[in-house]
Amino acid sequence: MRVVFLGAPGVGKGTQADRIAAQFKVLKISTGDLLREAVRNQTALGIEAKNFMDQGKLVPDSVVIGLVRNKLADPSSAKGFVLDGFPRTVLQAEELGKALKAAQAPLDRVVNFEVSREDIIKRLSGRRSCPKCQATFHVEFAPSKTGHTCDRCGEVLVQRNDDKPEAIETRLKVYEEQTAPLIKYYGNQRLLSQLNASGSVDTVFEALFGVLAPYTKI
Ligand code: AP5
Repeated sequence: MRVVFLGAPGVGKGTQADRIAAQFKVLKISTGDLLREAVRNQTALGIEAKNFMDQGKLVPDSVVIGLVRNKLADPSSAKGFVLDGFPRTVLQAEELGKALKAAQAPLDRVVNFEVSREDIIKRLSGRRSCPKCQATFHVEFAPSKTGHTCDRCGEVLVQRNDDKPEAIETRLKVYEEQTAPLIKYYGNQRLLSQLNASGSVDTVFEALFGVLAPYTKI
């Protein structure tokens, strides 16, 4: 199963990518997670990316394309993958298409998550993230057991810098300008499925499972 999760920030792509990757035993490739890891480790790439990310702007195409190419070349992606947060520009989509064509492993589906702007803002502003294992919680919709530490690894949860109101505004604007055109791009390739992602995590998972089940042997 080779799929892309598309959608505005905060629509729940990462939450569902974790569940789908576990369910179908495929690799989750999240460019956001990879970039945050590079920032934490203070690599040259992380230092370059941090400023863009904190402001809610996109990191340059060349940086993220390189990251994804490395992941796709890794044997762990051979059984399939869920791409979460990539591609985000037409250039990224074209480069992904070229890499997959060369590997004779075309995409099966691109799922576009749809949620109202009001709900997106609620989801983003209440999100709390684990800086160590990247698990995601929500103060109202998915609280951790203690309310302030990670259920998986015990680390103290934090609010991402880009989940603050000013950065959220920028991210939504950047999404409309640079990422939303991919809906038409993949629609033209007849790869797109629209997903109403406004229900609970379980309801969305059920609908997503229905969309993706034909692309797996399970
Ligand atoms: P990234 O981490 O990819 O951020 P994003 O796409 O903006 O997505 P989010 O992680 O904010 O949201 P999500 O849709 O995954 O929602 P989640 O499941 O967490 O990227 C961060 C930055 O890195 C970018 O701004 C950019 O700078 C850079 N970057 C990354 N990729 C790039 C690329 N390809 N090119 C250039 N730059 C790139 O859910 C959100 C919250 O809602 C959580 O609290 C969750 O618990 C809750 N929730 C989830 N589902 C539900 C539900 N059904 N009901 C109620 N609450 C829910």
